[in-house]
Amino acid sequence: MSDQTQALRISELGARAGHAATVHGWVTHTRSSGKVAFVVMRDGTGILQCVVVKTQVSAEVWERFQALTLETCLTVTGEVRADARAPGGVELGISGLEIVGASPLDYPIQPKEHGIDFLLDHRHFWLRTPRQVAIARIRNEVEQAIHDFFYARGFLRVDTPLLTAAIGERSGLFSTEYFDEGNAYLAQTGQLYGEAAAAAFGKIYTFGPTFRAEKSKTRRHLTEFWMIEPEVAFNDSEANMKLQEDFVAFLVQRVLERRRDDLKELERDTTKLESVTAPFPRIDYTEAVEILTRKGSKVVWGDDLGAEDEALLVEGHATPVFIFNYPKEAKAFYMKENPADPRTVLCNDCLAPEGYGEIIGGSQREDDYGRLLHRIREEKLPEAAYSWYLDLRRYGTFVHSGFGLGLERTVAWICGTPHIREVIAFPRMMHRLHP
Ligand code: 4AD
Ligand code: MG
Repeated sequence: MSDQTQALRISELGARAGHAATVHGWVTHTRSSGKVAFVVMRDGTGILQCVVVKTQVSAEVWERFQALTLETCLTVTGEVRADARAPGGVELGISGLEIVGASPLDYPIQPKEHGIDFLLDHRHFWLRTPRQVAIARIRNEVEQAIHDFFYARGFLRVDTPLLTAAIGERSGLFSTEYFDEGNAYLAQTGQLYGEAAAAAFGKIYTFGPTFRAEKSKTRRHLTEFWMIEPEVAFNDSEANMKLQEDFVAFLVQRVLERRRDDLKELERDTTKLESVTAPFPRIDYTEAVEILTRKGSKVVWGDDLGAEDEALLVEGHATPVFIFNYPKEAKAFYMKENPADPRTVLCNDCLAPEGYGEIIGGSQREDDYGRLLHRIREEKLPEAAYSWYLDLRRYGTFVHSGFGLGLERTVAWICGTPHIREVIAFPRMMHRLHP
């Protein structure tokens, strides 16, 4: 067996039984019975059990082995052996072992229960644990699936600015000084730029971080989160909902297809995800208020719907549910007035089942110059900052619609995590800026 063996990742070893291999990773467990010792290591792709037999290795290797601690970084060399009981179906019979980076005994995350604040303070280490790795892989799968979905449908990805003049949604803005231009604001949405791009390219989507200085301490609010915002020329609100249900069902099916092991690590009930297929039920806002009133909610016509109302509305539904055509005053200025009932706008929220609530907000956009200007004035928005946006209605206006899918809320639902802070590597919340 040569020491020149090319290093492999643990997930690649299954196909290498009977061959030599070198693997880099970190120690998660050690165990010794005097003459035979075991080290379990991880490398982000899987876990590997290594076996060291005292009589078969040099004295140095045996000694180094005895000194291993939790999270020591090491390189091992040995023979890959099929073993049905081992994780991944193989183990490594060790001939060589190098310590790359020692790890003192006070490594903060030990195999025991830790409180959530402690874990968040040590997020840089918490990320290494199996549950967090599984979540990160599912998030990565969802991100890739998003790109694949839009690429296959001829959408162009457009990267919109994060430093903007005062435009966006209603909730709080983060601001920063911007040379001689006054304040710049961190983008709450890429949508308005997406609308300009839709007139240039037809079908576009954005995929980027968005920022909201909301003082919300709920399990579904971050101050920095990632949003995916498609915008489609010549789509009306109905076609917009169709796109959303195809999109969401695609993402869920993709995770079921490719990330079964990770869902298992999370003990996710996959039967719940399996029933997520299009179409999703559509409930008119007015009907939603009636349903809620019957269920004891205090909501009145005109209110936006809160988390509790959303949970009541999805009760008994296996798939997400659309609530459509909300009252004008509950929603953003850019939504198109509903010709059939001008008290409402052509829009929808998409509510995930199992109480996860709103994962998408979408709408047909107001394409009439006069009406849009009226709404901007009604909301007392800085008209000058919106002049270019109004221009889109002056020069070749067009029916268009789009939506924003919150990545963390979607991934939290698919993973079945109770709080969205676990599904982003380094969450930003009202009281958390470190690490
Ligand atoms: O409903 P919202 O505010 O819609 C928009 O921003 C539109 N411009 C989208 C569009 O039509 N292009 O936000 C969209 C989604 C929500 O449904 C939710 O999933 C997520 O973004 N979201 C948040 N996620 C985490 N933390 C927060 N504070 C969030 N605020 C919204
Ligand atoms: Mg919304």
